Amino acid sequence: MSPQGTAETWEDDAHHVALVTGAARGLGACIAARLYDRGYRVALTDLDEEAAVKTAAELDPEGRNAIGLALDVRDKDAFLRVRDQLVDRWDAVSVLVNNAGYYTTESLMDITADNFTSVVSTNLNGTFFGCQVFGAYFAARGYGRIVNIASLAGQNGGTATGAHYAAAKGGVATLTKVFARELGPQGVTVNAVSPGPQDLPVVRRMVAPDKLAQIEASIPMGRLGRPQFIADMVVLLAAEHADAVTGACWDANGGLYMR
Ligand SMILES: NC(=O)c1ccc[n+]([C@@H]2O[C@H](COP(=O)([O-])OP(=O)(O)OC[C@H]3O[C@@H](n4cnc5c(N)ncnc54)[C@H](O)[C@@H]3O)[C@@H](O)[C@H]2O)c1
Repeated sequence: MSPQGTAETWEDDAHHVALVTGAARGLGACIAARLYDRGYRVALTDLDEEAAVKTAAELDPEGRNAIGLALDVRDKDAFLRVRDQLVDRWDAVSVLVNNAGYYTTESLMDITADNFTSVVSTNLNGTFFGCQVFGAYFAARGYGRIVNIASLAGQNGGTATGAHYAAAKGGVATLTKVFARELGPQGVTVNAVSPGPQDLPVVRRMVAPDKLAQIEASIPMGRLGRPQFIADMVVLLAAEHADAVTGACWDANGGLYMR
């Protein structure tokens, strides 16, 4: 890898090491699989260690280039531990995808203090700790790529999701700019991808069918987003030659929100 990311093609990214949080299932698993397919070594981390290990084994049963690890993003020390584990195993890490997140559906005035803190802690604190720990590590090496998964909810206030989630995701977009400004001079880019509702199990589980039909009808492109496309956006932002883009938030919402 060239320290300042001078490569011209994606092929030069082969054998880089990427860490994806919340990668046991859903969008995170999809992003990890895309990175793996492009030749990255990938650590699939999750609160649910068993599921992360299982998902990683589906990619690489021998565990040479994909592994599953426990990482609770609310715990800054966990990021430090996983960073050290990966450096021991694969020498270096070059890409972090802050994907872990969750939401609860509650009406605005019924959100309890505990639930507000819990949702913000995973979605916002988790991204902050990831950017801090890996931002410092990448800066010391003179190269790195951070991609934060934001959400349309953080831009338009959300539809099916609550105020805690929307506020946290708005914060993720802001943190992206703050870390991008800080880390740019050290060869580290920090960007966000902001998906609209995706065709993922969690969406079909959390949103009632009639509400989902309403959401789909309201999307100009007439369908839920495809997670594979979000994964492709992440792969593009993670590439060495992606250094023209930092502090950006790339929207992918089927035209539901235009700015
Ligand atoms: N599904 C959508 O339509 C949609 C839209 C916009 C943004 N997003 C964002 O995409 C990301 C992935 O969401 P998803 O739809 O795949 O959800 P999901 O619930 O299917 O997957 C989330 C994963 O994060 C893990 N996780 C939860 N708390 C964690 C913690 N404290 N530490 C580590 N891992 C934790 C879960 O165990 C799970 O494996 C989230 O940031 C979400 O906000 C999703």
